[in-house]
Amino acid sequence: MRILVIGASGFIGQYLVRRLGRTPGHEVTGTFLSRPPASDGNSWHKLELTDTGGLEQLFRLFRPDVVVHLAAIADVGTAERSPERATAVNTTATAAIAGLCRMHDARLVFVSTEYVFDGTHGFYREDDAPNPTTHYGQTKWEAEQEVAKLDFPWSILRTSIVYGWPGPGRRNFVPWLVASLQSGQPYLGSTGVMRTPVYIEHLVDGIVKLVEEDYPGTHHVAGKDWVSMYDFAVAVADGFQLDRGLVISADGAPSQAPDMLGLDCARTMNLLNLPQPGLTEGIAAMRANTPHP
Ligand SMILES: NC(=O)c1ccc[n+]([C@@H]2O[C@H](COP(=O)([O-])OP(=O)(O)OC[C@H]3O[C@@H](n4cnc5c(N)ncnc54)[C@H](OP(=O)(O)O)[C@@H]3O)[C@@H](O)[C@H]2O)c1
Repeated sequence: MRILVIGASGFIGQYLVRRLGRTPGHEVTGTFLSRPPASDGNSWHKLELTDTGGLEQLFRLFRPDVVVHLAAIADVGTAERSPERATAVNTTATAAIAGLCRMHDARLVFVSTEYVFDGTHGFYREDDAPNPTTHYGQTKWEAEQEVAKLDFPWSILRTSIVYGWPGPGRRNFVPWLVASLQSGQPYLGSTGVMRTPVYIEHLVDGIVKLVEEDYPGTHHVAGKDWVSMYDFAVAVADGFQLDRGLVISADGAPSQAPDMLGLDCARTMNLLNLPQPGLTEGIAAMRANTPHP
């Protein structure tokens, strides 16, 4: 199977490419924009998503069977500060990718976000109505609609907050929190911000399933536990055997972003026949994979 991973140099992309590259029979090529990955046996192409000619050339050259589209301006604040650029990268380019998949008979797996929902009640199901309240969420929801309106084989996978070791030069909440608690810094965890955190390798299990088998439609892949950021931080402190007394509960949301998010994944996990690990398993798996300096 020829698999093109767009946005392969990102946090999720690097784990996904590593996993797919280990499977005999998969030929994987990945794209990056600003951060060329270390040489790993897979092929890599520099791509600016808004360069339609570059995208077309990539499809012509590689002739993928399956495309995984991860590339995005994936930070809520950055999308808010540069709305036009975020629309061009997150929505317009996704529409172009969907069109190219259709033209080249490739299946598309598009990775989206819980931010398509409005955050008023949380633990959203696949068939709940999106109603984004951030520009980031709006661009991803519009991108989902651009994909879904075309007649070709596509899957959309929405996920929640993803944690794991992020690789050199990148940040992730859990390693940051671990370092912070190790140095004795307290952490103020909001009890009003709800998520379903997922360990990166468990998310990759779901993406790989959608790559290797055809499951059309919109799916939710995230952790089993629907928790506040306070509870998440306590679980991290416990899992890494750090002082949970440093995690202090704070009421309400510190920002204007939607706060009661998180995804109910029961339907998708049944469909994909995958287990749905919770925080305890995810944090233990992450700890067991701690990189050696
Ligand atoms: N991480 C999460 O917690 C999370 C949660 C929900 C949904 N998601 C979704 O998952 C996807 C991947 O997230 P991630 O955390 O892996 O993001 P990330 O680490 O920020 O990686 C983003 C990727 O997109 C590429 N990219 C950004 N702008 C580009 C452009 N204009 N042209 C071409 N490539 C561009 C980056 O390339 P360079 O790095 O080489 O510049 C990188 O490969 C996103 O679509 C995001 O919406 C992530």
